[in-house]
Amino acid sequence: MRLICIPRWASARRCRALALLGGMAAVAGGRAGLAAQGASEPGDTLRQPPIVQNISRRPGIVEVEVTAAPASIPLLPGAAPAAVYAYNGTIPGPTIEVHEGDSVVIHFHNHLPEPTTVHWHGVHLPVDADGSPLYPIAPGGAHDYAFRVAQGSAGTYWYHPHPDARTTRQVALGLYGAIIVRPARDPLAGIPEKLLILSDNRLAPDGSVSFPDPASVQASVDMENGREGDRLFVNGQIMPRIVVPSGEVQRWRIVNASPARVYRLALTDQQLLHVGDDGGLFERPVEAADLVLANSERVEVLVRGQAPGSRSTLQDLPYDRYAPQTRPADWNSTHPLLALEYGAAGPLKAAPIPATLRVIPPVDTSHVFARRVIVLSQGLIDGKTMDMHRSDIRSRVGATEIWTIQNVVGMDHPFHLHGNHFQVLDRDGVAVPFRSWKDSVNVPRHSSLRLAVRFEDYPGKWMYHCHILDHEDEGMMAILELH
Ligand code: C2O
Ligand code: CU
Ligand code: CU
Repeated sequence: MRLICIPRWASARRCRALALLGGMAAVAGGRAGLAAQGASEPGDTLRQPPIVQNISRRPGIVEVEVTAAPASIPLLPGAAPAAVYAYNGTIPGPTIEVHEGDSVVIHFHNHLPEPTTVHWHGVHLPVDADGSPLYPIAPGGAHDYAFRVAQGSAGTYWYHPHPDARTTRQVALGLYGAIIVRPARDPLAGIPEKLLILSDNRLAPDGSVSFPDPASVQASVDMENGREGDRLFVNGQIMPRIVVPSGEVQRWRIVNASPARVYRLALTDQQLLHVGDDGGLFERPVEAADLVLANSERVEVLVRGQAPGSRSTLQDLPYDRYAPQTRPADWNSTHPLLALEYGAAGPLKAAPIPATLRVIPPVDTSHVFARRVIVLSQGLIDGKTMDMHRSDIRSRVGATEIWTIQNVVGMDHPFHLHGNHFQVLDRDGVAVPFRSWKDSVNVPRHSSLRLAVRFEDYPGKWMYHCHILDHEDEGMMAILELH
């Protein structure tokens, strides 16, 4: 076992704790696990979600317990505890860290008073481990989710409930958490990491999660726009702070766990160095002034500490995803998410950023099994709402397909496919500037895009849907059946 405890990266207390964890930390990835968990400077107020404990001691095996249960947690500083739902008692839920090739077993217990599932968003796994609405877990029930982490799938994923018609409510009540898949060799190893899970919520004056009266105007606006709240959280905290030593480079993994809000992320003082998205790293870093992050999408960015004593803010800039008739009055305002303070330069030299991160071969489209057009309209896919007993598309394992996703209405719909990664080829006929692996992609109003996908390994029924959770709950979802 090799544990490197460098004060810059980990507090002495954390080092001792990790030393005590001994073999477990080694199984969890040693140095890599440490980077994600403990890149914390004195002065940081941003908390990292706890890393779920691996109860297996065998190398290559990750075995964890996850329980969804009602809990009582204050959602605002100084507020009274609110009645929420939580995974293992925290919001966000604990981070699940695994490596490519690991065998993972998640012993899940449903202590909620209603049915739920856990969906491992973006993870390539067998259909009975997917936690789709086809596999509900009754109150008081349990399920072991078991899968093997695919090679080449290193990246940032997340988990959330996916029961029929109740997903918005369960996510709004606090059920969401991150999954980090690490490669055997990480081209960005040594760069301190932070996980930033973005969410928003609407709270009552007493600090509890507020849901509109189903007969109210707000309820119909929510059905149209998806549920948005005026409180913006990073890891469940309002406007936390990160201290970055001058000259240091940090790697941020950012997850949009909001039910409907689309973020347009920017730092006030520097460009973001965009190095990855849903399915992991790009081939090369790309500079970006801002990044649009639709629901359920993830990005990885690098951020550099500037002159000591100066500050910056991670902001959510205005992004107009709405139909004009339900566009919120304040859609055009900028929201601060996270404060940055630059500290004195540390003794460590910033790790060099490689010019090439990895190779992403294009999906081979020389033999295409089918080309399909999928039409998104308001609340509907191809003019229909979901029927759990209907398979909308039938195909087979091993097939490569090209799908055109067409949004024919006046608001954006983020499109998501379960279990299989795809590559976006072009948008409105214009080739995308670089390749990446995606499982969710925003389809702006009155636009279309093409994606290429190869169905690997796993037969069964896979959902594809709009990831505005209210739309998903209303049935803006369909089923791909693979034989
Ligand atoms: Cu993030 Cu079908 O889900
Ligand atoms: Cu999914
Ligand atoms: Cu939608």
